[in-house]
Amino acid sequence: MKKYHQYNDIPSELLTSLGERVVQSPYRQQFHVEGDMGYINDPNGVCYFDGKYHLFYQWSPLAYSENSWFQGWYHLISDDMICWEDAGVGIQTDTVYETHGAYSGSAIADGDTMRLFYTGNTRDENNERIPYQVIALMDKEGHLSKVTPPAITGYPEGYTDHFRDPKLWRGADGDYYAVIGAQRQNKTGTSLLLHSVDGFSWNSLGEVGTGYQEFGYMWECPNYFEIDEKGILLFSPQGLAPQGNHYHNIYQTGYILGDKIDKTNLQLTTEQNFVELDRGFDFYAAQVIQAQGRTILFAWMGLPEIHYPTEEYAYCGCLTMPRELFLEGDKMYQRPLPELEQYRSLVFEDVFQLLDLNGKWFETGFQSNLQIAVSNIQQKGQVIIDLLASEDRKNTCQLVLDYAKQKIILDRSRAGAPVAEEFGNQRVIFEELGKETLLDIYLDRSSLEIFINDGQEVASSRIFPDETQLFTHISSKEAEVELSIKHYQLDI
Ligand code: FRU
Repeated sequence: MKKYHQYNDIPSELLTSLGERVVQSPYRQQFHVEGDMGYINDPNGVCYFDGKYHLFYQWSPLAYSENSWFQGWYHLISDDMICWEDAGVGIQTDTVYETHGAYSGSAIADGDTMRLFYTGNTRDENNERIPYQVIALMDKEGHLSKVTPPAITGYPEGYTDHFRDPKLWRGADGDYYAVIGAQRQNKTGTSLLLHSVDGFSWNSLGEVGTGYQEFGYMWECPNYFEIDEKGILLFSPQGLAPQGNHYHNIYQTGYILGDKIDKTNLQLTTEQNFVELDRGFDFYAAQVIQAQGRTILFAWMGLPEIHYPTEEYAYCGCLTMPRELFLEGDKMYQRPLPELEQYRSLVFEDVFQLLDLNGKWFETGFQSNLQIAVSNIQQKGQVIIDLLASEDRKNTCQLVLDYAKQKIILDRSRAGAPVAEEFGNQRVIFEELGKETLLDIYLDRSSLEIFINDGQEVASSRIFPDETQLFTHISSKEAEVELSIKHYQLDI
């Protein structure tokens, strides 16, 4: 049985000894958010407040130590969402409304305060879960006060105790709104719209209307936002079966697009138009903010119940790079932030033709941005890109541009220490391969994010190469291809 600690009860020697294990890891990331120790999962409370960006994440520092547990929020602050400053533990579990974890939630800037809304998780003596939706206010000095009693106790009739992850916003009418993840009593997932006039007293207006009555058993971490007159519900459904090239990870994250909702009309759409947001192996529980005229997404580059090789070093989990969202027609495009450009320096660029399997190779190392433009006028054959490959290419994370199938396939079967192999080692990450393809690839020590054709598709994955896998190799098979490549070093 794990004992539920408050953060302040954790002996500092225990944290120090866990931290010493973490620094032994060969897989520590350079420009992605990771925890100092333990398990991190969802990004929480992302907001722009008092001239800075704030980001929190779910943090369980004692996940790899015995007989103890604390699950709260860790807090980071940034000017540009690239470099983050450590602001310490953001939410502790110091009230009776969160004894079993301060679970996911959100934040907005509300005048001189940051208003946070999150789920306090508790279990009673019979191990029955009782969720609370808690409001907390943070001032500009970072002092947090929790409002008691919580805004919502338990869950509405017709739903189960899987009722969590409120995502807050302020409506054009000045009222407060939030979407929250829920499970109907018939064990199907959905999302409810919550409403409050004063930000403290809340009630449910009902389900956000989508075309889906049966789409997984739980919708975690919903977000509602609007771009160009459209309403978007983004969420992480659990319990979808694989369908064609989609839904091959344990759980999914994606969005439904429709008309704007308001408190009198909760119907977003009647169409079944869920789109998976990321085509890689590790992506979940995304959170979106709208700030300074932009819409920006953060996500966990990991998945619940999946084990990663870093656990041996007493930590696990990282966040994706932030991405800016754009709507083009009915499709969401995702692009890396332009702020990243200040942190990169060009190492080399090259333009060349590829005619055979011998190809070309480069030492690109970790901490790299590779921009590769591929032109295959005849649209025949294959282009094979080995990323983070060893010199002999026995170890490699392979991208295959297959022109006959018009697909790009990502294969991590030989990429290094294995991860979640029971869910397969290949993903189809693009299905409209044409003559010209642009790949914008970000390599960190143990992750790979691939943006295809200026953000039309993105694939985010953890990979765990050894220290000899420093090379990129590009070749072609039965294809005549022209390539232009730029290699940037990222120093963050
Ligand atoms: C998603 C999730 C949320 C929950 C949190 C707890 O990964 O399960 O639904 O609030 O993690 O850490």
